[in-house]
Amino acid sequence: MKVFKNKVAVVTGAAGGIGRAMVEKFVSAGMKVVLAGINGERLDCVVSDLRKQGAEVTGIETDVSRSDQVAVLAEKTLQRYGAVHLLCNNAGVSYNSRSSWETPLKGWEWVLGVNLMGVVHGIHAFLPAMLEQKSEAHIVNTASTSGLIMNSYAVPYGVSKHAVVALSESLHLELESRNASVGVSVLCPGPVNTDIVDASHRNLPAEVTPAELTAEESLLEEAYRRYLHQGLSPEAVADQVLSAIQEGRFYVFTHDYHKAIETRMKNLLEEKNPEPSPPNPTLLNIIHSISR
Ligand SMILES: NC(=O)c1ccc[n+]([C@@H]2O[C@H](COP(=O)([O-])OP(=O)(O)OC[C@H]3O[C@@H](n4cnc5c(N)ncnc54)[C@H](O)[C@@H]3O)[C@@H](O)[C@H]2O)c1
Repeated sequence: MKVFKNKVAVVTGAAGGIGRAMVEKFVSAGMKVVLAGINGERLDCVVSDLRKQGAEVTGIETDVSRSDQVAVLAEKTLQRYGAVHLLCNNAGVSYNSRSSWETPLKGWEWVLGVNLMGVVHGIHAFLPAMLEQKSEAHIVNTASTSGLIMNSYAVPYGVSKHAVVALSESLHLELESRNASVGVSVLCPGPVNTDIVDASHRNLPAEVTPAELTAEESLLEEAYRRYLHQGLSPEAVADQVLSAIQEGRFYVFTHDYHKAIETRMKNLLEEKNPEPSPPNPTLLNIIHSISR
């Protein structure tokens, strides 16, 4: 997709972090943007800020894990703007560091419901209209480097993000085989300076038991929170997303995780057992500084 001016974008999880940065980037490129998010009040604040700066934006409260709500998001977007040229399925949550068998099933359902089904719902609700328009369009699905390398912590998160990478790759192939004018990118960020840890606690549904973390798990969570705060700015991620859309580039990697990806791929090809990624020195330093 080359032309952005006066085109229509929809971004989910748009009230903060990477989502908000993408919205601002698309507005500067001259787009009209629909912001979707689970918290109406937070969304209203962002929308009113952006309108004060002259942006053409609309906020629609949407829980992406609910197919009916995403269908309404698509209906309202099309009613208001008549078309959708860019869809960013970005909303996501993280959830404690318990083992796969100790993570409550409701927790698994929540993470997969938002991170994976949220993307499925977006594609279902918007893609038919995007294909019918016959004008250039693009879908960006937010996965993670945790969608490329598996670890033994935050397992439901990693599983959901691997599924988003797989779904995006399939979608790209499906659309190419139909010569469709809709491109696909999958965004796989490394650490980005956002409040995802706290936002995820805030968004935890009532039926999902908050994890009772052990002292060690609490320390790890605090270290991870601080680690992210030293990460790349959401604005830098949004810059890369815009370039990838312009170039029709599928993979958007914000950090160099090539070594870890190569190790995983080599193990697969040589039928070797999975091995853990080497410890992250920055994270280790933070852990030491907290526990001192
Ligand atoms: N921050 C990082 O280091 C990092 C790294 C890799 C991938 N990601 C991914 O980037 C995306 C954006 O995360 P972020 O870091 O900007 O965090 P964030 O918490 O600032 O943004 C996520 C947004 O999604 C919203 N959300 C949560 N549940 C929702 C639901 N059911 N329906 C609609 N919206 C919902 C949240 O309210 C929040 O506004 C996520 O998919 C995340 O997994 C982040």
